[in-house]
Amino acid sequence: MKIMISAGPTREAIDPVRFITNHSSGKMGYALADAAVAAGYDVILVSGPVNLTPPEGLAEFVPVISAADMASAVKSRFPDVDAFISCAAVADYRPIEIAAQKIHKQDGDMILRLERTEDILLSLGKMKQADQLLIGFAAETEDLRARALGKMERKNLDWIAANTVGVPGRGFQADTNAVTLYARSGEVYDFPLTDKRALAEQMLKTIFSKKK
Ligand code: CTP
Repeated sequence: MKIMISAGPTREAIDPVRFITNHSSGKMGYALADAAVAAGYDVILVSGPVNLTPPEGLAEFVPVISAADMASAVKSRFPDVDAFISCAAVADYRPIEIAAQKIHKQDGDMILRLERTEDILLSLGKMKQADQLLIGFAAETEDLRARALGKMERKNLDWIAANTVGVPGRGFQADTNAVTLYARSGEVYDFPLTDKRALAEQMLKTIFSKKK
């Protein structure tokens, strides 16, 4: 069984010295990758820029920077995997133009024009074969359940892991997290606050013991 996992943030360049990113640390994705290796799966980890050492025993480690890099790395490998867990916090927008030279300050305001990046998981939901599993994450500050279920539907996912962000001990930079896992079949699993490695192991057991 081959599992691909994405982790960390992406960086969208503004000019040679600046970029747009988010608070993702990569800890949840790396914990999932580590737990999946320990469980005996072949694991591909596609990672945005983070300050973490990839777990030992990966089948492949693919470092990427931007949402476009992540999209091509993930989409090219997707046909060969049994499951993809999309844990990365992919930027939804990027600057329309990347300045070739450093942008120097001027008096007054500055307007940065952004365009949408590809929704990788939405694309994979369209590519997915009947025997492949697609697992997404929803990090929300409000309406957790409704937003998570909406994303599962829209992106044609089999599972979605929903967590609250903006609360101490959960989400982005924390070593711990609490997650509610929703299955396409309607089942709901609540995982209370625990360290991300233990949570990763419990999530993998739940998802892969059921298969679909
Ligand atoms: N995702 C993705 N490609 C993107 C953005 C997100 O594959 N360009 C994936 C994430 O890895 C995660 C899930 O989609 O698994 C998150 O869903 P999404 O609707 O994109 O959430 P947000 O980015 O938080 O967007 P919003 O709440 O604004 O809809």
